[in-house]
Amino acid sequence: MQWIAKRSVLLQPGIRTFQLQRFYSTSAQDDPWPLPLPRSLAARQGLFLLALPAPPSAWPAKLEFASPLLSAASQVFKRNGLAVNAYYDGSGAAEHLPIEEETYPARLLFPDGRTFEYPEFRLDSLQDHNVMRDANYKPDPVKALATSSGRNVTGLQEIFVCTHGARDCRCSDRGGSLVAALRKEIERKGAVDAVAVREIAHVGGHKYAANAILAPSLDMLSNLTAEHAPALLSHIMTGRPLRSSLWKHWRGRYGLTEEQQGELWHQVDPGEAQTVSNAAGSSVRIRFETFEGDIKEVNARLGDSLLQIGKENGLPSLEGVCGGNLECATCHLYLPPTGSPPPVPEPSEEELDMLGYAIDYRDGQSRLGCQVKVTQELVKWIEDGGIIKLPRY
Ligand code: FES
Repeated sequence: MQWIAKRSVLLQPGIRTFQLQRFYSTSAQDDPWPLPLPRSLAARQGLFLLALPAPPSAWPAKLEFASPLLSAASQVFKRNGLAVNAYYDGSGAAEHLPIEEETYPARLLFPDGRTFEYPEFRLDSLQDHNVMRDANYKPDPVKALATSSGRNVTGLQEIFVCTHGARDCRCSDRGGSLVAALRKEIERKGAVDAVAVREIAHVGGHKYAANAILAPSLDMLSNLTAEHAPALLSHIMTGRPLRSSLWKHWRGRYGLTEEQQGELWHQVDPGEAQTVSNAAGSSVRIRFETFEGDIKEVNARLGDSLLQIGKENGLPSLEGVCGGNLECATCHLYLPPTGSPPPVPEPSEEELDMLGYAIDYRDGQSRLGCQVKVTQELVKWIEDGGIIKLPRY
């Protein structure tokens, strides 16, 4: 596999000047990720989507740089616990972004099917009282956990497939093939009024491409190929029955907490239930190493984040200025593989994005302390010689 530096951006000139470098794969020849996939979707209340007027082929790697509206919406809605993304519905013909005077259709989707539509969303919509009221909508958690027994579903179903090739060619190669296969299958089944396929910006992690979000359920599925098109259509048109083979591609659901996602997985496959520790709150010892090499062994509670532990124990460099909302990267730390890889879930797409702003980012080691929880498995890893390293303060 070949990797290249895709971009280099100068941030914060003056006091803390550093260069941001992210690396992107240039190869589409990656091994398929083994199934079932890690269920690592960060808990989000719902999903805000902006419909861009340009197709994914015109999108730059970082869409927020090309759309001030998307950037502003992202800042506002993420504070409300929403995920934010952009998609193309096939109707716009702009050749590049940004365009002046951004006014796009937008939607707020919640996992119980509640949808708020904004035909003309623009910057001042973010001050609109009604929009902010919608953003605070709380979906019904009991309804959201339910899965269908297999009856036919009425109403439009949507499949948002990531085809964001400027971000990573795996997304456009695998996502593009899936989009084409789905559209063909929808035609063949005569389901054009029942199912729509959209193209969405980066989501789910490039190595798991093709990634797709289903609406209205807001389930995320990964590691899909064009061959999955018939099964995927059947999955959504029959109400996502528990027997569906597509469940092993499930990464999580927007609008549910990690515990609720774990419970849902238990309904789908009790034998593969996600471990939910019944010992949350128990006191354990974990070990950090400062940038200067000082070892700090501290008390921690199972279930707490590494950021919480760091702050409670006054560890240097773990600032956490955004309070764990994935908006600052000041909780950056390293989990280097020492003997065995650290037993922590894969970073979410939001965490990966924010890690792009971490100073002294290390591929395969960097994590955000606000997103990594203390588990018995992590404690055991530390007992066996693993260590959490802190960056330069
Ligand atoms: S505390 Fe801000 S991203 Fe972790």
